[in-house]
Amino acid sequence: MPSPLNICLLPGDGIGPEVVDAALEVLAAAGQRFGFTLAPTVQGIGGAAVRASGVPLPEATRAAVAASQAVLLGAVGAPEFDAEPPARKPETGLLALRQQLGCWANLRPVRRVAGAGFTPLREEVVAGADLIVLRELTGGLYFGEPRGFAPGRQSACNTLRYSVEEIERLARFGFHLARQRRRRLTSVDKANVLETSQLWRQVFQRVAADYPDVQLDHLYVDNCAMQLILRPTSFDVLATENLFGDILSDEAGVLAGSLGLLPSASLGGAIGLYEPVHGSAPDIAGKGWANPLGAILSAALMLRHSFQLEAAAAAIERAAEAALQAGVLTRDLVAIGAPFASTADCTRAVIQRLAAEPAAIRAVPRRRLTSA
Ligand code: IPM
Ligand code: MN
Repeated sequence: MPSPLNICLLPGDGIGPEVVDAALEVLAAAGQRFGFTLAPTVQGIGGAAVRASGVPLPEATRAAVAASQAVLLGAVGAPEFDAEPPARKPETGLLALRQQLGCWANLRPVRRVAGAGFTPLREEVVAGADLIVLRELTGGLYFGEPRGFAPGRQSACNTLRYSVEEIERLARFGFHLARQRRRRLTSVDKANVLETSQLWRQVFQRVAADYPDVQLDHLYVDNCAMQLILRPTSFDVLATENLFGDILSDEAGVLAGSLGLLPSASLGGAIGLYEPVHGSAPDIAGKGWANPLGAILSAALMLRHSFQLEAAAAAIERAAEAALQAGVLTRDLVAIGAPFASTADCTRAVIQRLAAEPAAIRAVPRRRLTSA
């Protein structure tokens, strides 16, 4: 028996704990089926950590994360901290964690599963949509200095800065990713206005010479926001800076049917961070209404990228897709007022379908995604 997977769970706020519990159940079921066991530790982050210990990323959490092989996070954010200084904001804990792990490459895969419930767009527009938002995660406006309010709070500033090195490693990651898919890379910027975007575009154009087999194009972010809705199936890999990626990935959630379906993997450092793209949704926390698939699919990405357990990862993805196609739809995927599956119903449906999967004869090691 291989050694247990040493994972650190950070449930966080709102619906975070419910969806992390669901993902853990699915991981345990996948382990039985595919021959691995888990050694999870649970630590605080976000508003939950501020309440317990005064800071959103306590030392104990930092240490547990550093001692783990991979991190699965639920969500952070709670309205009670809205007016607090940055040091007591839940989001600060997540940003500090991303910085600690040095996970600069954030993958947010978006797929429209045929028949997967409600979409405000026409089915023929979204049918077949299958793209990845590759978001730069440790630079840009989120981290740039100087930042802050001026004395008297009559003005405030943030800094948007990118280095060639930061852009180039993301570009290479994007080209590698595109090579494993449909070989199309769209770089998204605002080069008609911003110098950082002009540098971004130059670096992508230079790096493209090393990947003649990948088709690179460029879109301004405002146009991209529109094209995503008009012609989602034309996109393969979309590479963009931190804030643009944050915004476009929420929009892309609509293509899948709901933001609640989107998983993410944050790579580039020694330890991967996996989290659903959705937020803490405090308004529905504890009701059993949350869509657990974002977290469950994030756990699948963890098996794939941190543990090379490709067969188990793919089986979870197939099980989730089959549950959706069978009409097991949480509240975010049905029309207002229509009956819906609870978080537990959805989790159970995935586990049932996982049990129907053939057990792994071989664990297929998949080529690791690295920037080199
Ligand atoms: C996300 C979230 C975070 C972000 C917040 C919670 C800090 O919106 O992961 O997309 O802005 O990166
Ligand atoms: Mn976001």
